Amino acid sequence: MRLDALLSRVGLGSRSEIQKLIRSGLVQVDGVKVLSPAAPYGGGRVLVRGSEIDVRLERHIMLHKPTGVVTAADDPAKPTVFSLLPKALLSLQCMPVGRLDKDTSGLLLFTTDGELAHRLISPKREVLKVYEAVVDSNLQEADIALFREGIRLSDFTAKPAELKILDARRAQITVSEGKYHQVRRMLAAAGHQTVALERKSFGPLSLDPILSAGAFRELREEELAALYRAAGMR
Ligand code: URA
Repeated sequence: MRLDALLSRVGLGSRSEIQKLIRSGLVQVDGVKVLSPAAPYGGGRVLVRGSEIDVRLERHIMLHKPTGVVTAADDPAKPTVFSLLPKALLSLQCMPVGRLDKDTSGLLLFTTDGELAHRLISPKREVLKVYEAVVDSNLQEADIALFREGIRLSDFTAKPAELKILDARRAQITVSEGKYHQVRRMLAAAGHQTVALERKSFGPLSLDPILSAGAFRELREEELAALYRAAGMR
């Protein structure tokens, strides 16, 4: 790949802006100034204006989504999950794997691998998602059975899910689907309004407790391998 194309892919600017940057002598690869935008990039540390640039094209990220941001690339009125991530990720089309509602917090994955994302959210794969919910009324033993049987909602019947009562108004819910407002709607069908909802895990990955709301990190090799296995790709 040409150096100017690479730097443009990672969000450093338009091709022509980058060509100017390179010709001005502001780009180095492994300590050597590169003056030709067409120079092929075959690896090595890239510095632009003296700062190292992350030039990996394949990225896989775990974000602790806070409440109040929408899972979208852009929104006219509300902040988006991308406002929390480096610009390069949007430029690289590192996209969320499914969605979380604006008012839901927790584990949201991003990947540049469209096939991986597609498989992980495919209803056929039934990848398990675990949520923790706080509700406005006391949970009952009957709720467990209701979730286990599968709940009839206005437009579909939710597949059997597991509800574990953690304390009077707090439950852990495991679902294999990802329909719009699904967990909130299932809880509402059982007579509980959701006060707070957080996703704790997605398939083989759990939300890293080191990440405070709004923080993110790259997936580790073993996490990525587990995710590819869950997607039936490796
Ligand atoms: N279920 C919901 O109701 N909301 C989410 O964000 C995810 C699952």
